[in-house]
Amino acid sequence: MNFISALETKINLQELENCIGQAVVEDKFIQEICTPLIGGGKRLRPLLFLTCSCANKNFSPTKEIPLAAALELIHTASLVHDDILDNAKKRRGVETINSMHGSQIAVLVGDYLFAKAFQLVAENDYGSEVSAVLSKLVKNLCLGEIIQDRSFFVVPTLEEYYTRINLKTAFFLSTCCRLGGIIAKLERTEIENLADYGGNLGLAFQIIDDLLDFFGEEKLTGKAVGGDLKSGVITLPIIRALEVSPRADALTKIIAQEKISCADVALAIEIIRETDAVEYCRTCAENHIAAAKNNLPAAIDATINLTLKQVADFVISRNR
Ligand code: FPP
Ligand code: MG
Repeated sequence: MNFISALETKINLQELENCIGQAVVEDKFIQEICTPLIGGGKRLRPLLFLTCSCANKNFSPTKEIPLAAALELIHTASLVHDDILDNAKKRRGVETINSMHGSQIAVLVGDYLFAKAFQLVAENDYGSEVSAVLSKLVKNLCLGEIIQDRSFFVVPTLEEYYTRINLKTAFFLSTCCRLGGIIAKLERTEIENLADYGGNLGLAFQIIDDLLDFFGEEKLTGKAVGGDLKSGVITLPIIRALEVSPRADALTKIIAQEKISCADVALAIEIIRETDAVEYCRTCAENHIAAAKNNLPAAIDATINLTLKQVADFVISRNR
């Protein structure tokens, strides 16, 4: 991630790592089970927040590390809960907490990380607007997940798919950028533009994630291939393949079973591959990346503008 170097001239990123790590040291059991999971993230959300807060070149995010760490902790908490809902076995290359210790412990560990995030926010006095934005973020994350879980094994319309990925992913990246702009005291229109950039970035991020779920390498993504389909989450590659494949009936049959084997996943991948679904999804993601770059406010610091464009290029080209 070469975009990190621009940020490193302004901020010591080791402090971010220390702050995230410190959030789990109070209890030995929590520390033991959370450290491998916490260590494996890409840090996209806190880095986006910190980068956007540098968009005002007169502002240096020295007191913002705890808020950046809080964003990573909210994200990690949501993944711990997501893995329970998906009955996932692997996350960030390590065994999930639900798989190791059961769902009951995993619910509580997710809650713990979530509470730690809000403790960091409360203790650092970022003001009521930041708290309101964070509350809306968590509400939307939950809503996205509820919508998704209420329609397991149901093929969504394109509009329903977009509503879901907007709530569960795009809104998060948009929030990170918005918070950066708020903290740096940018003009309102610039904050909105940054938030729009984050929203489009997030849509592209989730579409690529949904492709990687079928076509990624397990050792790079850190999670099992076909996890979405097995847990009943029907994503864009399937939606498109169902629309254009001559073998759409076979794909529909797989989804209707609701108990999807590895052989079913392999067949679904074969059917998707025969169509233009991969290309279609990539084009959709690329369009959102182009829109994100267009959303960038012209008046912000030139280095940061370039960095945010590099983040966009990373999101479209990522394989993990
Ligand atoms: C991963 O997406 C999961 C999310 C983006 C959000 C999950 C949100 C919740 C469980 C509700 C919020 C909970 C708290 C504590 C804030 P994915 O399932 O598409 O990706 P994956 O393939 O990595 O699992
Ligand atoms: Mg999931």
